[in-house]
Amino acid sequence: MHWGTIALITLCSLGTGLSAIALAPAAPAAPASPAVPPSNFYLELRSVLRNVPHKQIEHLVQAYLLNDAEFQAVVREINSLATYRLRLQLLNQPELRQFLQWLSQQLILSGGSLKVFDDLELEIKVLNKYPHWAQSVNGIAGFEQEFDYIYPLASIRKLLETSAQQSAVFGQFWQRVVALKPVYERFLATSQATAFASRLRNLGVDVNGLDSFVRYQLGWSNETLPNNYEYDYNYGFY
Ligand SMILES: *[C@@H]1O[C@H](CO)[C@@H](O)[C@H](O)[C@H]1NC(C)=O
Repeated sequence: MHWGTIALITLCSLGTGLSAIALAPAAPAAPASPAVPPSNFYLELRSVLRNVPHKQIEHLVQAYLLNDAEFQAVVREINSLATYRLRLQLLNQPELRQFLQWLSQQLILSGGSLKVFDDLELEIKVLNKYPHWAQSVNGIAGFEQEFDYIYPLASIRKLLETSAQQSAVFGQFWQRVVALKPVYERFLATSQATAFASRLRNLGVDVNGLDSFVRYQLGWSNETLPNNYEYDYNYGFY
């Protein structure tokens, strides 16, 4: 299993943390341009991100957050002061800052902004949407299994690679994402990250699965995950 939520939360906090380190004040939204350029990085990235089943993830997280004690403990851990500091430490890695600056510039140049990631933010309501949610949760392992079921990991990876082949800027984007691997390794080796991983492990999180998930999604490994269900639009789950 792969603990996508942390990945997702990382993405979201990247998205929100970005404004904090964004270079210049946000550029004004580009006026609607009559001539759409043949290739537009912002639109390409947006169309990749639209493949994240955001609503389904939101429902899943909401059901678990409201009804599952194991999951609640993990969310508390993610929101602890120590983890907050760890997130800042990650965002402060020079290579990551450079990457985010480049990304922000490219998005502005193509008429968008880092707000393209806002769509991934989860809005959780405090009451169960469906009464059966109270009974349908099944601990961290249950969450991980359901997450794997709805998150099209391999399709999104494939889409990132195809988009990179079809557009020069997207190609650079993907290359830069893949090149962040050493930063990730260095970060994981810090005592703070190791301590975080072991706190998660103690709470029942499949940390190795999460690590494989992140590595495969971001091009740092080509090893597909054994338990990831892929949705095939013609044939359903297999
Ligand atoms: C994954 O496969 C691609 C294409 O064969 C290759 O360029 C890349 O280096 C591989 N990545 C890793 C982390 O092995």
